[in-house]
Amino acid sequence: MKKRIIFATGNPGKVREIKDIIADMGIEVLTMREAGVEADPDETGTSFEENALIKAGSVARLVREAEKDGRMDGEAQGVCNIVMSDDSGLVVDALGGAPGIYSARFQGRDTSYIIKMNYIMDQLKDVPWEGRTARFTAAVAAVLPDGTSYTVLGHMEGYIGYEISGSNGFGYDPFFYLPQYQKTSADISEEEKNAISHRGKALRAMVEKLKALEVL
Ligand code: IMP
Repeated sequence: MKKRIIFATGNPGKVREIKDIIADMGIEVLTMREAGVEADPDETGTSFEENALIKAGSVARLVREAEKDGRMDGEAQGVCNIVMSDDSGLVVDALGGAPGIYSARFQGRDTSYIIKMNYIMDQLKDVPWEGRTARFTAAVAAVLPDGTSYTVLGHMEGYIGYEISGSNGFGYDPFFYLPQYQKTSADISEEEKNAISHRGKALRAMVEKLKALEVL
């Protein structure tokens, strides 16, 4: 049966990343918009996995409705639509795991990341280097046509730096120091980051899991 991944995101960068990972498998990847569905559910979960499942689940329900109404190719036409989603954030050990699942909303959704990062660096001003450990965490969820769902986690370990550096990446990258590069994750290339990133690891783990289950 023809396999298709519908990624529950409006972010084309995330779709590009999963496309790169499954490039050799001949599987089509669509954003939810390309698939003709749109959902932006409240992230009411208490973990990255729960929030990823909430997003994937609400898009999967719309996909199933669209399949039933004949607005989208579905199992009856020999197409297996797998809905995937991710949820991610920054976990700072010295802050008890904050901002965590609230990373985008931290200090206000519209507050600039310069202000968010300066706030965190200020909170950590008396914390020595060994105590400045942090990680980016990503959960990827997949919902299959029969409603079965899976989640996996990926992490990228590092330290909260003392200053902001770099213009690649997004969000909290400019103060996230990667010891193996002696640079922040905003100072390495997109390819370098994808190879070690929390999202890259979680996406590859999900692809491996679905392959092992003979879903992909
Ligand atoms: P979401 O997974 O799209 O909900 O995003 C969660 C938030 O976590 C982002 O808005 C960023 O603030 C932060 N975040 C997640 N991954 C990264 C990353 O790779 N670099 C920098 N910030 C990130």
